Amino acid sequence: MFGVLTLALSALVFLTWQVLAARADDAADDELTHEANKFRAFAGSGEAAAFDRPEELLDRWLQSNLPDDSEALFTIVDGRAYHRSQGSPPARLDTDSAFVQGIAGAKEPTYGWIESTAGRVRYAVMPVQIGSQPVRAQLVMLEFRDIIAKPSIDAARALVIIGALTLVLAAGACWLVTGRILAPIRQVRATAEQIGESDLRRRIEVVGNDDVAQLARTFNTMLDRLEDAFVAQREFVDNAGHELRTPITVIRGHLELMGDDPRDRAETKALVLDELSRMNRMVDDLLVLATTERPDFLETGEINLTELVVEVIAKARPLADRVWRVDESADATIVADGQRLTQALMQLVSNAVRHTTTGDRITLGSRLNGDHVLLWVADSGPGVRASDRERIFERFARGNDQRRTGGAGLGLAIVRSIAQAHGGDVRLADGPGGARFELTLPLTVPADRAVVAP
Ligand SMILES: Nc1ncnc2c1ncn2[C@@H]1O[C@H](COP(=O)(O)OP(=O)(O)O)[C@@H](O)[C@H]1O
Ligand SMILES: [Mg+2]
Repeated sequence: MFGVLTLALSALVFLTWQVLAARADDAADDELTHEANKFRAFAGSGEAAAFDRPEELLDRWLQSNLPDDSEALFTIVDGRAYHRSQGSPPARLDTDSAFVQGIAGAKEPTYGWIESTAGRVRYAVMPVQIGSQPVRAQLVMLEFRDIIAKPSIDAARALVIIGALTLVLAAGACWLVTGRILAPIRQVRATAEQIGESDLRRRIEVVGNDDVAQLARTFNTMLDRLEDAFVAQREFVDNAGHELRTPITVIRGHLELMGDDPRDRAETKALVLDELSRMNRMVDDLLVLATTERPDFLETGEINLTELVVEVIAKARPLADRVWRVDESADATIVADGQRLTQALMQLVSNAVRHTTTGDRITLGSRLNGDHVLLWVADSGPGVRASDRERIFERFARGNDQRRTGGAGLGLAIVRSIAQAHGGDVRLADGPGGARFELTLPLTVPADRAVVAP
């Protein structure tokens, strides 16, 4: 930017200079023409007719004409500088013999430019002829252009100085302003550089209310989210590690204590296999939860709710000896991921099975409710304690009634993830008796959540 400014100012100074120089040339020319005309008029007058010799006429002219500061006159007689005007001219050209010789022979009015110690000079040579005598004298008029142009040159010089000063001032101002603007940005950058994965708690200091402060605030908000996500992830990994360590410890303990007795061995084997399948289930669940955030988590298609519920019951019936019922069925079709919905319902069903005993009732149902559908799994078990109602949907959260053989507390978290991926949710419905879990789903998965199966 500074470069552009310099260029513009230089161009301005250069152009002004050119214009002024041309004006000075014109002015010198005009002055000369004016003087020449005056002399011509005098030469043609009756007063001039009285002279017999040209030097007399010229002397008369020199006496009666006072040149101003930028002018000088001298006469040439017989090829030599003869007399010159009164006063001291800016430079003496009558003593320049080469110049005088060059113009002495002029028989016609001649104009030209010549360099002198006082700059460029515009000159005119006016030959003087009396009657029919041969021409032997000339009047030389000199206009010192640089002296005529002096005010303009001074103005141009002032212009250059002012321009240079302006440049310096502008540069200083630029430097100050950009420094002030950039300082907070630099601070944001420096802080951002310092904040690493291990130091996500740091924040940028927000000063004022301008755009930079806004930027810092946005940045801090982003850091908040990052930190939350990071903390959540670390907790998740901690919990997962902790949960997986339990079956590993159990397996190791039993294997170490195992004796040679075949019965003991068979018992240990059964227990180890049981623990392993529990681990297997947990790893599967963890993998599901890890993928819920991914855009390809859902593969949607048209799902008939009645068929879905019937299918889930068919799968669930062999699990346990319960009274299985469908108490309401919406013959509606929604766009959803059928496999994920089955997975969610099976989690709810297996919870219901675990919290009931032989002869208890487990009921499934579906209902169309305005612009969304309800899917539920209810049981006639003991229900969920009031203090656990919210907690149980969190990852690794188990109720206090938890039996040793139970899961890791991931089931309802998976159900919730699946529901939310569809743009819906899951809740524990109020009511007397056992537990009733309800899935709320939109008729179609919102566009930003679903990836339609190819
Ligand atoms: N049908 C139910 N009846 C009573 N309590 C339930 C039922 N379903 C879930 N819960 C409670 O919610 C908790 C969390 O369930 P879940 O997330 O599936 O984990 P997990 O089944 O591994 O314990 C369970 O430990 C239990 O206390
Ligand atoms: Mg469960």
